[in-house]
Amino acid sequence: MLAEREIVQRFLETNHQVHPDVVNYIREQDDPALIDSILSQIPSDTLVVSVSHIPGLRRERDGTRFLADPELEVIWGSAGTSGSVSGHEDAAQYFRDRYNQLSSIIRNRITAMPIEALARSPHRYRDAECTIIGIVMEVRATAKGHRLVEIEDTTATINVLFNKSREAMFADAESILPDEVIGVKGKLSGDGNLFFAEQLYRPDIPIKHAPFRSDRPGKAVFISDVHVGSDTFLEDEWHRFADWLQDANAAYLLIAGDLVDGIGIYPGQEHELVIRNIYEQYDVFGEMLASLPSRLRIIAAPGNHDVVRGAEPQPALPAEFTSRFPNNCTLVENPCLLNLQGVRVLMYHGRSIDDMIGLIPGSSYDRPGEIMEQMLKRRHLAPSYGLRTPIAAAKQDRLVIDPIPEILHTGHVHICGITKYRGVLGINTGTWQSQTAFQKQMNVNPTPARAIIVDLETLAPEVKDFNR
Ligand SMILES: [Fe+2]
Repeated sequence: MLAEREIVQRFLETNHQVHPDVVNYIREQDDPALIDSILSQIPSDTLVVSVSHIPGLRRERDGTRFLADPELEVIWGSAGTSGSVSGHEDAAQYFRDRYNQLSSIIRNRITAMPIEALARSPHRYRDAECTIIGIVMEVRATAKGHRLVEIEDTTATINVLFNKSREAMFADAESILPDEVIGVKGKLSGDGNLFFAEQLYRPDIPIKHAPFRSDRPGKAVFISDVHVGSDTFLEDEWHRFADWLQDANAAYLLIAGDLVDGIGIYPGQEHELVIRNIYEQYDVFGEMLASLPSRLRIIAAPGNHDVVRGAEPQPALPAEFTSRFPNNCTLVENPCLLNLQGVRVLMYHGRSIDDMIGLIPGSSYDRPGEIMEQMLKRRHLAPSYGLRTPIAAAKQDRLVIDPIPEILHTGHVHICGITKYRGVLGINTGTWQSQTAFQKQMNVNPTPARAIIVDLETLAPEVKDFNR
């Protein structure tokens, strides 16, 4: 396989810089001739060689194309589809499904062998470059600062060593999370007990991914974390937002959970509530939605403050809480995949952001966009199991990101963030609650009373601030 520095060097010799995505693509293709063919076709004024300069790489949308682009369709995550997992949970089956889904995405780019075949005949593979794909069982830092990662496929497990001196790869290896699915190219140690990693593959978004854009006008407004019932709910700001919606030509309003503040969510919450009855909280919220323009299509999902079970996927709000909700509001599960005029939106409350910030070096609550990118790289909304994000171990892993949406919408951390990663727009939509005592203690500075508007024809986001 071509080494990274050789590829970079080849481009430097012709006075070009090269984007890391192009370097990875050339390595994956393992085709040195590709460098010449890129260089022979780039315009003479090119400074940085990017993915668009790779000849023959056609940009395409992921998954099946829609025959018709309906106004609003819940592709999955309609009320009542999360299934019952009470009583019989089968974690082994859940992880097998996760492995199957994510490993097949990686297999679109590389060919891998079963781990058992390596272990069975180590002599045969000792000096050969091999690729394996596994789910991460355990991650450890060694005394010398390398990463030792135990991975498992359906046949066996093996320890993989990511050497910190391989800097380009190690930056990615440092953020390997328990239970994510990775591919590794490398070589087996002499005694056959250890696998030395040379390259790390994540399922990722293909570099040729091209998002779909609606062929007719339409605007969607994204919010989350309204927290009705809390004494820090920003009523005046919400009314300014509601007034603005009267004249805005928005067709959709998406709300990614924490519709109300809930009851008994954290110790001492009762002292911070102005509405101490859960039914009343939803009644007030329902009336707020009912006073918005009836032409709006509203889609509302639950979050960890809502009344449904916390384990994800979370069911849609049951009817007993939503009698005051208007008819133009569709209740969905968390997460869900929506289709707005052909633009697919994956809406997820974002509880796992807590876990990922705790595990990924250098990440911060102030930059939720980076965490959304990490979800997209792993093609999974909540990679690590058994931490703060409860996951219902159903037969199918519904938290896998497949197909690739045009927009990933999250909330939960109460801080706005926008990112664009390989054509996917990531938006984290802040909150309608000012800083709580708990957030003050945790040094979290929320960005409240903002809505993010996305033009479905261009996928361009715009932040609207209702603080003044
Ligand atoms: Fe929240």
